[in-house]
Formats: sequence, C-alpha cells, structure tokens
Amino acid sequence: MYNEKVLQHFKDPHNVGTMENPDGYGEVGSSECGDTMKMYIKVDDNKITDIKYQTYGCCAAIASSSIATDMALGKTIEEAQAMSKMDIVQELGGLPEKKIHCSLLAEDALKEAIKDYKSK
Ligand code: FES
Repeated sequence: MYNEKVLQHFKDPHNVGTMENPDGYGEVGSSECGDTMKMYIKVDDNKITDIKYQTYGCCAAIASSSIATDMALGKTIEEAQAMSKMDIVQELGGLPEKKIHCSLLAEDALKEAIKDYKSK
C-alpha cells in the first residue's frame, strides 16, 4: 500500500517532539478521521530554523509530517507558507488516494504555526 520512502519516514520519522517557547504553534484536527497534529516552529531572520511536531495519526500522517518538516526547515516563512499537501505527497513519491487527506494535516498544522508566528 505504501512506497518505501513513506515506510522509511514512518519507521524513522524526523523532527518528532515538542519545543519550549516556540515562535509559532499550530494544532489541527482532521475532519475526515479525527486525527490531530501539533506543530512548533522557531523563526530567525524570517527563516524556519527549527521545527518539531507531534501527531496522533496514521502511517501516512506520520510520514507526511516527517517529510513536510524536513522540507520546511530552512525555508523562509513565505516559502513554507506556499507548501501544499500535493508538494508533500510528491516529495513522498505518492500516497494512496484515500490517504491524501492525511497529508493535509501536515500542511494545515504548518500553516497554523506560521499564522500564530505572524500574529505575535
Ligand atoms: Fe487520520 Fe491518516 S487516517 S491522518
């Protein structure tokens, strides 16, 4: 069902954890399955310098957040904000159609964290 890259990120996810005093924090839930994701970012000179997440979700959600946080690290706020779930899915080498919504959790959590950062 999942390709090798997805399974690798699921078995050994990157950037898992929490953060003390993040510059931005986002928490979202999926309307489709009820799973949730929390995302924390540190921003310096308009760039994401650290990023962590926790998810209570499936294999696809874990792999999506792992790769999405890898992708966002080092990006400017504008570049990170422009990332879509399809960019995440593409970077993973694809997800089964019924699992595409899981990648939306990562996109939405990142966007919420950026929104929180901008509101401060
Ligand atoms: Fe809920 Fe994948 S089924 S995030």
